[in-house]
Amino acid sequence: LRPKSLLGRKVLVTAGPTFEAIDPVRGITNLSSGKMGFAIARAAREAGAEVTLVAGPVALATPRGVRRLDVRSAQEMHDAVVPIAAQYDVFVATAAVADWRPATLAPHKIKKDGKKLAPSFELTENPDILATVAALPKPPYCVGFAAESENLLAHARSKLERKRVPLVVGNLGPATFGKDHNSLLLVDAQGHRELPPGGGMADKQTLARLLVAEIAGRLAAYQA
Ligand code: C5P
Repeated sequence: LRPKSLLGRKVLVTAGPTFEAIDPVRGITNLSSGKMGFAIARAAREAGAEVTLVAGPVALATPRGVRRLDVRSAQEMHDAVVPIAAQYDVFVATAAVADWRPATLAPHKIKKDGKKLAPSFELTENPDILATVAALPKPPYCVGFAAESENLLAHARSKLERKRVPLVVGNLGPATFGKDHNSLLLVDAQGHRELPPGGGMADKQTLARLLVAEIAGRLAAYQA
């Protein structure tokens, strides 16, 4: 049996996309499946942690023993996470949170009538959930994710500094959204390393277990 490296710890995970409404039937979203976040929640639970999973709109079953809160928009995810985050030892932000939302919500479905021009929307910035949690007076150990199409290491490093988090995890696999296999790049102040060690790809549940083991190791040093 695997040793319970997170026994007695509380872990909070965000997962999936967010959905930013334009009108009652339309919205802006992205291709995040939530698979990595759900796999991390499952792995943290297996490691003995008490786990809360805050999920955007996804079609995935709740891992056994995990408490799940469903949200839709970035603002809802923020409002679910921020008030409870200080009670946790670890916060893993895997959600692909929309950076912007339509500035106003149309009360009725926008119609394509007459010779009117195509509608245009003004966008407004969403709150940064990870940066907000990392800036709490006593923040949990915060882990950010980076899904980049280029310069992964440089982007991960700048995210580390910009959001003031101790660990950023980059997706090395091409077009990871929805896929079952991936490889990860862990970037912290000391340097960077790949998971699985030695290169290659692994399924997301295996990667999640490896990542949870890494987090458990760093947590002891962080809280000391
Ligand atoms: O800024 P960017 O979206 O590239 O950063 C990605 C990381 O920040 C992910 O861990 C994501 O979950 C988190 N994030 C967040 N709230 C936002 C935007 C990103 O928690 N509004």
